[in-house]
Amino acid sequence: MIIEIRQFEPSDEPGVVVLWQESGLTVPWNDPHRDIQRKFSVQPDLFLVGVHGTRIVASMMVGYDGHRGSIFYLAVVPDLQRKGIGRQMVEEAEKRLKALGCPKLNLLVRSSNQSGIAFYERLGFSVDDVVNLGKRLEKDKAGSPTPHNHSQPTGSHPSAPGM
Ligand SMILES: CC(C)(COP(=O)(O)OP(=O)(O)OC[C@H]1O[C@@H](n2cnc3c(N)ncnc32)[C@H](O)[C@@H]1OP(=O)(O)O)[C@@H](O)C(=O)NCCC(=O)NCCS
Repeated sequence: MIIEIRQFEPSDEPGVVVLWQESGLTVPWNDPHRDIQRKFSVQPDLFLVGVHGTRIVASMMVGYDGHRGSIFYLAVVPDLQRKGIGRQMVEEAEKRLKALGCPKLNLLVRSSNQSGIAFYERLGFSVDDVVNLGKRLEKDKAGSPTPHNHSQPTGSHPSAPGM
């Protein structure tokens, strides 16, 4: 299925939050609305949605810090997964990052999300031998995880938006 990929617009917010909820990307300690506001104020041109007709069917936050590129909140609506949409989104991220001179993408996937890992491996990514360290600088909600369960999530959230 061919989709249109364009920059996120403020009117997309309700649809994007529903997409994240349906695809299991929201976590109790992250406020999706605040995450959207933050990305909309930093590299908003790399906050992308996939659209089919008028429906938002995919989302992705891409970043580049001058050394490495990243992808967060990659999601495809459940009823349209395994139709090539995720691949189109990641290929668009790679195209935009290459245009910025980015030499490598690094991204986080929860170790419990084996299907997400399989998807990225299919697209040419490999698991790097590194440990991811995190430190929260701002709490969105009182339910923020402790450092212990933050590094070893027990939930089934597929992605790593809160990492
Ligand atoms: C992960 C996700 C974005 C993949 O999107 P998608 O549109 O279903 O993936 P595609 O159809 O583009 O698949 C691309 C390739 O990966 C393969 N693939 C996708 N999911 C796979 C899985 N669970 N296991 C093995 N291979 C998989 C496809 O077979 C396809 O291979 P091919 O092009 O060689 O035939 C989507 O399943 C999703 O939103 N999941 C929930 C949220 C999530 O886990 N996000 C990513 C976490 S980091």
